[in-house]
Order: sequence, then structure tokens, then C-alpha cells
Amino acid sequence: MSVPGIREEILKAQAYVAGKTIEEVQREYGLESVIKLGSNENPYAPFPAARAAMIEEIDRIHEYPDASFRDLRANIGARFGRDASSVAIGHGAGGILETLAATFLRTGDEVILPTQSYGLYREISKVAGATVKEVSLNEQFTIDPDAMRAALTGKTRIVWLCNPNNPTGTVVDVAAYERLRDALPPTAWLVVDEAYAEFAAEENLPATAQDLDDHNVVIVRTFSKAFGLAGGRIGYAVARPDLVRVIDTVSEPFNANRIGIAGARACLTDDWPNVQAALKRLQASRTRLERELSARGLEVTTTHTNFVFFEVGVDADALAEAMLRRGVIVRSASAWGYPAHLRVTMGTEAQNDVFLSSLDSALDEIRKE
Ligand SMILES: Cc1ncc(COP(=O)(O)O)c(C=O)c1O
Repeated sequence: MSVPGIREEILKAQAYVAGKTIEEVQREYGLESVIKLGSNENPYAPFPAARAAMIEEIDRIHEYPDASFRDLRANIGARFGRDASSVAIGHGAGGILETLAATFLRTGDEVILPTQSYGLYREISKVAGATVKEVSLNEQFTIDPDAMRAALTGKTRIVWLCNPNNPTGTVVDVAAYERLRDALPPTAWLVVDEAYAEFAAEENLPATAQDLDDHNVVIVRTFSKAFGLAGGRIGYAVARPDLVRVIDTVSEPFNANRIGIAGARACLTDDWPNVQAALKRLQASRTRLERELSARGLEVTTTHTNFVFFEVGVDADALAEAMLRRGVIVRSASAWGYPAHLRVTMGTEAQNDVFLSSLDSALDEIRKE
């Protein structure tokens, strides 16, 4: 069936494929107990102050939110040493990325993106009519900013850089990032998607916040991962104030909801110590999981996120399916061109135990086939 009148560019794009939900797996596999380690969510959330603030906000849900999102912008800005005018709010990092595509791209423009990365960059660029130039990760599963730099032309409008990268968890070399930043033509923007930055050590990431005034750099972050508000749909950009004003103009009005905003504010204030404690626990789980997987002879890629990307030596789709039957949702990396790799999100320690025993039994099953 075809939809009459549709823009030609849209025919080239594909719908975003989200990870399976717990409800879907319960239904499809007739299971009661399912754990989800497929979407990089935070198992320790919602945090107590965020939970209380969100519940309280329900009584005001009939009122539009403060369209300027003034308080949340100020809270975020303070964490980056900037004021509220440097922060734009959107419905998830995804909403901000879409707005950036709508802001900069028209038919015939070029974007540069890593082939094995967050899939939304490609689709929103295509929908806007841009020509997509892809640059493959290197053999260490890391984005190569020098290769992206080599792809720059006068037509480049956006370079999509995911750091740390989803699905591999790797970070770019800081000096190579700086070379890419310095080589941007005047009409090109480097969009640094830092959805997982809170899980990384600061010294492993470029100091992007220092680049906002003197370079065409914009930072995109989210409350969906470290702050555990994926269902609240709050993301943001940190950028120079003139770009923030443009993002606000292009976004639809009230593009974030009262409940998500209340939760996000609490995460940055009263819940800050709770968020930090959860990050510590997840980092400890990550170390343990890296060790456990390596001990099984599986090749683990060093990660700077709340997920681990590792080689399983068998067909990853079949293994992920065998794990679904055991009630554990993980992500096969085959769609990214890695047919023998899985991506697993850190759960609670109890969930990680279930993951490891399901992995052992699913691997046994597949190896026997
Ligand atoms: C790299 C990256 N960017 C952006 C997003 C979108 O996050 P949000 O929930 O804020 O839209 C995700 C979600 O998985 C992601 O992995």
C-alpha cells in the first residue's frame, strides 16, 4: 500500500527499530518473569525525589508546562558552567536530534555519520533529504574522527558523532576529535551525542563544553540513561545561545511534559547523590561483567557506558532469541553489521546473575545445534 502525496525523501527512510519490551516478550513467549537488558535503561530508577516530584506533578497535568522550561534549563546549564540561555529542552535526545536535522538539512546537503552507531542519525538525515556519507568504525570498534574529517566537503552540514558510541561503548580519541572540530567548514555542525557521557570518566571524553562558543559544536544529552527517566522523555542540547534560540523556534511548543520535567529537575537537585550512587553501582557491575564474560573466553570491548558489547562466537540473532526464550532481553548487534556480537545493558546484580546463567545455558544450546 502506498500513501498518496508522501515526500520522496521519506520513502528512503526506515522506521526506528526499538528493543523489545517486557510486555511483548511476556506475550510472545508466554513468560511471567522477564528482565530487560536491551535498551540501556537504569534499573535503579526512578530515584526517590524524582518519583515524589513526578507524583506531585500529576495534579497539575491539566495545565501546560512552563513553555520556557526556565528552571530545568538553569539546573542543566549550571552543571556545564553556563546559564539557562545555553540549554534547549526536547522530548528525549531523539527529539533534539530531529530538531537539529530539521534546522540544518535540506535536499542535497551532506551529513557524515558512523555506520555502526545510533540508527536515528541516518533516518532523520534521509527524511530531511540529505545525502548520507557513512564512515565505518575501526577494528577496535571505535569511531574514527580522522576518517570523518576526510569526508568533509563544502556541502557537509552535520557530522553526527556518538561519544561514547552505541552499540560498541567505545570513546573517540580526544586529539582526533579536536582535529575534526578544527577542520569543520563554516557551515557544518558537529553534533556530539553524549547520551552515555555520565557513565564515562571525564578524562576519557573531549571537553566539548569548552568548544561551544568558538566552534560549531553542539552537545546532546538525555535523562533516559544515567538519570533513569526513559519514559519521561527529556533530552537537551547545550549550545551557544543563538543556536538554542533557533532550536526553540524549530521545535514544537511545549515539547517536554510536566512529569518528565519534574523528574529531571529532582535528579539534578535532591536526587543528585542517589544518581551518583547508582552510577557507582553500575560501574562496578560493568567491571564484574567484563571480567565474567572474559573468563568465559568471550572477547569484550572496553566500554564507557552502561552496556557491554562482546563477541559470542555464534550467531548473535540465534543466541538473542534463545535468551528471549529464557526471559532475558539483550540486543543482537547483527543489525549493525556485527553478526556475532551482543550488547547487554547493566542490570541490578540479581539481574546480571540471571543474565550470566541464561547466557551460559543459551550458548550451550546453540553450540550443540
Ligand atoms: C546514542 C543515543 N542517542 C540518543 C538516544 C535517544 O535517547 P532518548 O531516550 O533521550 O530519546 C539513544 C537511546 O538509546 C542513544 O543510544
